[in-house]
Amino acid sequence: MSTAAAAATTSAAPAPDAAHRYGISSYHDAEQVYARLRELIRQPPRPLRRERMAQVLRDFETRMAGSRCLSDQAKQILPGGVQHNLAFNHPFPLAVARAQGAHLWDVDGNRYIDFLQAGGPTVLGSNHPPVREKVIELLHGCGPVTGLLHEYEVKLAALVQRFMPSIEMFRMLGSGTESVMAAIRAARAFTGKKKILKVGGAYHGWSDQLVYGLHVPGTGRLEAAGIPRSVSRHTQEFFPNDLGALRRKLRLNRLRGGTAAVLLEPLGPESGTRPVPFEFNREVRKLCDEFGALLIFDEVVTGFRVGLGGAQGYFGVKPDLTVFGKCISGGYPMAGGVGGRKDVMLRFAAGIGGIGERAYVGGTLSANPLSCVAGYHALLEMERLDAPVVAGRAGDRLTRGLQEIIGRRKLPFVAYNQGSIVHLETSGVMLLDLRHPLKLARELKPRKHMLEEMGAAYLAAGVVTLAGSRMYTSISDTDEVIDDALGRFDEVLSGVEGA
Ligand SMILES: Cc1ncc(COP(=O)(O)O)c(C=O)c1O
Repeated sequence: MSTAAAAATTSAAPAPDAAHRYGISSYHDAEQVYARLRELIRQPPRPLRRERMAQVLRDFETRMAGSRCLSDQAKQILPGGVQHNLAFNHPFPLAVARAQGAHLWDVDGNRYIDFLQAGGPTVLGSNHPPVREKVIELLHGCGPVTGLLHEYEVKLAALVQRFMPSIEMFRMLGSGTESVMAAIRAARAFTGKKKILKVGGAYHGWSDQLVYGLHVPGTGRLEAAGIPRSVSRHTQEFFPNDLGALRRKLRLNRLRGGTAAVLLEPLGPESGTRPVPFEFNREVRKLCDEFGALLIFDEVVTGFRVGLGGAQGYFGVKPDLTVFGKCISGGYPMAGGVGGRKDVMLRFAAGIGGIGERAYVGGTLSANPLSCVAGYHALLEMERLDAPVVAGRAGDRLTRGLQEIIGRRKLPFVAYNQGSIVHLETSGVMLLDLRHPLKLARELKPRKHMLEEMGAAYLAAGVVTLAGSRMYTSISDTDEVIDDALGRFDEVLSGVEGA
């Protein structure tokens, strides 16, 4: 393997929480990953050769006619023709008929290796039968929702607490977005402070106050169409891994209403696309303590995928509040929750046993029995099958294989992973930022388009990725599945300019 292609790793960082096993076998050296990513975006983009891309588009037209037809209908009635923000839409979205384990099938009967895995919730693979059976059993009993207390609400909360001791109390909600909103509201009610600090580029859902510094660090309100300026007034961002900038903002905020919370994706923005050094979360914890701000971990992706103890267990850092999504309901709707310190969490219950002013949360369907039974049994299955570790091994195999292909074909691309979260950066678009505004203005569009083309080419080769650059592995990804995928990646990457 070429050293230029291989993303460096440090030796396995000892998991401070020894109660659980983790899916990250060795933590990468973030600086070395960045060095390679910087080198990638220093060079001109290396897209697929035009004749190869033309072949990909012809493949779509001939082999995916059913998807084309449905997407034409969808465009007439659904704005943009797709409703899920992870749905691929270049040259048109794939219409899915069936999903099972590591694979999915489109309406034309084509089979794909599925590394989208619904955006991360299905560490057990799609449609895991033992969970499905428990869900069906429950549906026969009380249906999906009653609006009253159900035993699975309590069972799920207790299970989350067993896995993550920082969760002294837990509240189930409808989505990650809602749960981030709730966590911030509780943090503000508890601290009496206003400002929220997030890392530039991180995604914490689409609530008004957090459509801020999305995707590209430093871009603030760039994507805040329809959101009044006043709503973003108390949201701030700092550049990834810049602890000095965080300290300066915390200090300044003392004079401006104080910082209620620092909100982190513990692996780094966009599920570790911009990775953090191992010590980063611990350093932020110290700064929060120094400035009296709460630390909120957004574990919507990492919660249970990195390990049953979450990223907080892996890094050995205790947040005040944790936001859940995705795995919390095992891939079933509706996936959201917030948990943490009892004194903060009791803010949600003021009036019936809580303290102080109430941080209002609600939701007709939140904490419904269907989501809770699915989450409970999915998490138990993940424990029984050691799913984070097994899925992490699949992620390691995929990453090693991609690094080998990149090295052999002498490409500037970068592959790295955090267990079952695998990154394959070909266009480098995610690494542009506002510190280099000219480069950003010049290269954002072509690099974004290149990413769309790569995603389309993987799809035509039978591999579904998240937006052409990220992959989630599951326990269904056997060595055979991974090796099959690698053969397909090799074929696609053979068509890159100069490969
Ligand atoms: C880190 C993170 N936080 C929050 C969210 C929002 O969760 P949801 O899509 O359930 O609203 C996501 C969604 O992908 C996410 O990745």
